Amino acid sequence: MRSERTGDETGPAQGGGRRGFLKYAAGVAGAAAGTGLSAGTAAAVPAGRAAESSPGPSAEGRHLPPDRVPFHGRHQAGILTPQQLFAGFAAFDVLVQDRADLIRLLQRLTDRSRMLSAGVKPRDERTASEPPTPDSLSVTVGLGASLFDDRFGLAGHKPRHLKAMPAFPDDRLDPARCHGDLSVQVCAEHPDAIVHVLRDLGRATHGMIRPRWRMDAFMNPSRPSGSPRNFLGFKDGIVNPDTASGAEMDRLIWVTPPCGEPDWAEGGSYQVLRLIRFHGDAWDDVPVERQEKIFGRRKASGAPLGGDREDEAPDYRDDPDGRIVPLDSHIRLANPRTPHSDKSRFLRRSYNYDQGYDGQGRMNLGLVFCGYQQNVQRQFATVQRRLRHEPLSRFVTPEGGGYFFVPPGVRDEEDWFGSRLMRDTAR
Ligand code: HEM
Repeated sequence: MRSERTGDETGPAQGGGRRGFLKYAAGVAGAAAGTGLSAGTAAAVPAGRAAESSPGPSAEGRHLPPDRVPFHGRHQAGILTPQQLFAGFAAFDVLVQDRADLIRLLQRLTDRSRMLSAGVKPRDERTASEPPTPDSLSVTVGLGASLFDDRFGLAGHKPRHLKAMPAFPDDRLDPARCHGDLSVQVCAEHPDAIVHVLRDLGRATHGMIRPRWRMDAFMNPSRPSGSPRNFLGFKDGIVNPDTASGAEMDRLIWVTPPCGEPDWAEGGSYQVLRLIRFHGDAWDDVPVERQEKIFGRRKASGAPLGGDREDEAPDYRDDPDGRIVPLDSHIRLANPRTPHSDKSRFLRRSYNYDQGYDGQGRMNLGLVFCGYQQNVQRQFATVQRRLRHEPLSRFVTPEGGGYFFVPPGVRDEEDWFGSRLMRDTAR
């Protein structure tokens, strides 16, 4: 077995000790510079370290997001950003009726997201003892296929592969928890930051959008080390494309010409959200050795079967019959590691959820599966088809989610989410 680079593979730090006043202060200074806040606000800020710079890995080896995640850029934040500990995923329907109001809506979302990402406190966060923003905040906005109907003149400008998420064979989708005109992914290092930010965005866009569904989620700490575990007890998020490689990102994550997409979509990415419920009771009855065959990895170490460490790559060429890693195991089906399957790899950025008990008194635990890719058909949908009726499917049920297209990043102070789409379709 050889070692491999594994993206966001390591487990989260405990607590948030590095968070502090300096971070908040530096964020406010940055925000003040760009948003016309009074010089007095900025002057009250002591000089701190550059808040955008990544602090590097934590003691536990987790890839920490920078204290202040840069809001402006070629791509939206929250995709390649090292995973923050907490996330809120929400989908909305747009209530405004015409293009001018849709532009106003996108601009409001941008203005508030820009300020909050820079460290301006959300409107409802008044008490100094509350965790400070920016808190490594990222806000990522996606557009659903339904936005490209005839309401706003966007029909004919839809990203080529964007459609409403279909029901796959093992799905049991609840329509109330699917789709939406817009998706908003909010990630931060504390759970209350997610709530404050969603409240703030809700207030700024009051009457313009209606919530459709929402799921709050989190990363578990790594136990005892390495990648964090999901609620089936397995290390999750070990293998991902190399986010440090621009070439790999241009090939797998970003819409990069020539790929037949509209010009405005360049630098964007398809977002797949899946709300996947776990059937923990049934899973717990399965012997660990069988569970390991279902995933193709050791439960304790996360190593692929036949290996010792989670960062080892399985070598399927030496195991053509699946004697070591079964042919129908999750990792082998998801990524057979052939030259042909290489182009279906994509970035996973998933979180766990805990929704209390259901009506039958069973715990409602699962995964907000979140994936980013250049082409949702070539990547997620192809992998999902390979996973059809996999042994794992008896223990999990996809119940909601959606396909969205995350437009390219907000370039500067003058720019806003989706500006290029709205300009290109103005004629
Ligand atoms: C309840 C649902 C799921 C669970 C519990 C789950 C769990 C896991 C675990 C434990 C691993 C091994 C560690 C790792 O590399 O991260 C893994 C790998 C992977 N999963 Fe899933 N997964 C789920 C759904 C999906 C879905 C829906 C897809 C895509 C359609 C997917 C795609 C992948 C991929 C691409 C890998 C990496 C395989 C490799 O490169 O070796 N998973 N998953």
